[in-house]
Amino acid sequence: MDALLAALRAAGEPTRIRILGLLGHGELTVSELTHILRQSQPRVSRHLKLLTEAGLLNRFREGTWVFYRLVDDDGKTATLARTLVDLIPEDDADHTRDLDRLAEVKELRAEKAAAYFSANAGNWDKVRSLYVEEKEVERELLSQIGDREIEDFLDVGTGTGRMLEIFAPYINRGLGIDLSHEMLSMARSNLSDKKITNCQVRHGDMYALPVDDGSQDIVIFHQVLHYADDPQDALSEAARALRKTGTLIIVDFAPHDLEILREEHAHRRLGFRDEEIINWSRSAGLKIEDITHFDGAELTATIWRAVKPGPRHAKTKLAVVQ
Ligand SMILES: C[S@@+](CC[C@H](N)C(=O)[O-])C[C@H]1O[C@@H](n2cnc3c(N)ncnc32)[C@H](O)[C@@H]1O
Repeated sequence: MDALLAALRAAGEPTRIRILGLLGHGELTVSELTHILRQSQPRVSRHLKLLTEAGLLNRFREGTWVFYRLVDDDGKTATLARTLVDLIPEDDADHTRDLDRLAEVKELRAEKAAAYFSANAGNWDKVRSLYVEEKEVERELLSQIGDREIEDFLDVGTGTGRMLEIFAPYINRGLGIDLSHEMLSMARSNLSDKKITNCQVRHGDMYALPVDDGSQDIVIFHQVLHYADDPQDALSEAARALRKTGTLIIVDFAPHDLEILREEHAHRRLGFRDEEIINWSRSAGLKIEDITHFDGAELTATIWRAVKPGPRHAKTKLAVVQ
């Protein structure tokens, strides 16, 4: 009872309920919240501290940025947080204005990322090989799909189309989607240079994939999720696109503190913990089957593989490989 009363007391204040309403749309940094709420940073930080102490929010630091998000475990306070967000009247004037400003913040982020990708479309293949031994990761990716039959393969954030290129011989149809027109034109010319005819690319957003529900055997995010401002939403969208027994593959970094990737390469997240990906996958109705880490000099790359359970899906134990 004490925990419930503490959570209700913390939420029962106009700015704090607005904060919950905003975080119901994804995680935000303190400065983004300050910008949206138009209140001083110390005031916003105080509200965030109270909500976090009451168990309604999670706080995590990545380099110099501090993020907040609604608790998303299986506990009752998480249910309370989500219920409070759902109860906020959609036509409330403050809430509507907050959401408009949130849209502005997201647009700014997208513009920043798009500017980076436009500037780097030409040399992205060089940039991507700076940090880890890509070949090793690619070999493991191919070995993980084994000799199963793959009708439809979706590469989210395809960039120069590298994943389509390496998977093309093993799939019937491949589709790469990307937000950046410059990246798409690079991918188009790469596919045509390599005479890959079973793959195409299309403009699209990871939050609204241009494919039908249950239409894909494999969905892959290769070095893309760290650009997401709402990775959980992106994974739910991928789960929607997967067929039953289909596979989601995420390749990204384990947590690191190379702030330069944020400053110069537009990364939003400095890597992901296994538990984060496991929880987001579970919320999206997927089950992590395998985690493989590749330790590099400065960065650890990870492959997380999840399945969308279906009738033919046998129970498996999670394997973690280092
Ligand atoms: C680091 S590159 C990785 C490209 C490719 N997957 C690879 O590993 O070579 C990330 C790509 O994600 C794309 N991207 C970023 N945000 C996106 C979004 N919301 N929807 C689709 N693509 C996005 C960028 O335009 C960029 O091409």
